[in-house]
Amino acid sequence: MPAHDLMLHRFPATLPDFERIDDDPVFDPALHLALGEPERHYSLADLGYESSQLTEPTPSTVAATDCFRILSDEGVAALYHVCKQLEAYTTSNPRISRNTRGGVYRSRFMRDLSLSPEVTEHLSALIDSPLLPHAMGHQLAHLNYQPLSLGENVDKWHYDTLQVDYVMFVTDPNAVDGGEFQYFLGTRDEMAQRHKAGKKIPPERVVAPPIPGAGYAVLMQGNYVVHQACGLQSPGERITFVNGYSFTNPAINDFTAVKQLRMADPVEIVNAEYARQMAYRSAQHLQDCINTPHYGDIDTTLDQLQRARNELDVAINTLRDTEDEAVKHFGD
Ligand SMILES: [Fe+2]
Repeated sequence: MPAHDLMLHRFPATLPDFERIDDDPVFDPALHLALGEPERHYSLADLGYESSQLTEPTPSTVAATDCFRILSDEGVAALYHVCKQLEAYTTSNPRISRNTRGGVYRSRFMRDLSLSPEVTEHLSALIDSPLLPHAMGHQLAHLNYQPLSLGENVDKWHYDTLQVDYVMFVTDPNAVDGGEFQYFLGTRDEMAQRHKAGKKIPPERVVAPPIPGAGYAVLMQGNYVVHQACGLQSPGERITFVNGYSFTNPAINDFTAVKQLRMADPVEIVNAEYARQMAYRSAQHLQDCINTPHYGDIDTTLDQLQRARNELDVAINTLRDTEDEAVKHFGD
């Protein structure tokens, strides 16, 4: 390869030393995908976000969709087979009793599904802005398994530490009692105030999108939509697959909460993944400066260079700050 032909990989060429699963199906988009459309979506304005309340700019007005299909029956069977093997690697944190993260390093199927260009293009159309699969391996293919104690919520009320994600049922939500996925029809700030004041959430402010079966998902701007996953009310199995994305446009600020991720994942891996996320963003700013220079427009050029440097400054400062932070959530 000529030295000037720089290649940036959205997924790294070297992986952490994670044990692979034994029986890994081959992902085949023609066989495993059955992409469908949601019937409706909620906008950020529907949730109460005025443009002045959007602390980070976003290129999309879509807050969350109701459900749409992603996997065929064959896709569900293959993913379930992988998830059952990854159940051996569940970990706990103060928000989630049993989750497996980093499955993209253990299963090629999981990696190829998470990175699928077909899915990414479909979701980009649904959210009306181009997306890229998240550059951090632990923000892809997050798996939630039902807690071992009945009635305990799968995940508490929270918002996500990334821009966009979908939550897909791997098991049939209609075959179990409980286990709903729910949105709060309100803003992060309102939820924070309610939680601080010990106020209950009125039932009319909670939406549980009907999910017809396994392989169906909801898409959301996870950093703006407060959501939770309810526990099962009788014994059963509930597995969900959560895949993260970033807006392709690097002008949209990164939303990685590194200190939160360090509470869930191995610190050295969080740091390495975050460094590449921010290095990639910096390179996106530099690409324009390199490939399409603005002759006679020094202000644009300086802006590009400054943005590239800002990403690195943020990353360096964040990585040097090793102080712990409690896991954030809004309770059950
Ligand atoms: Fe979430």
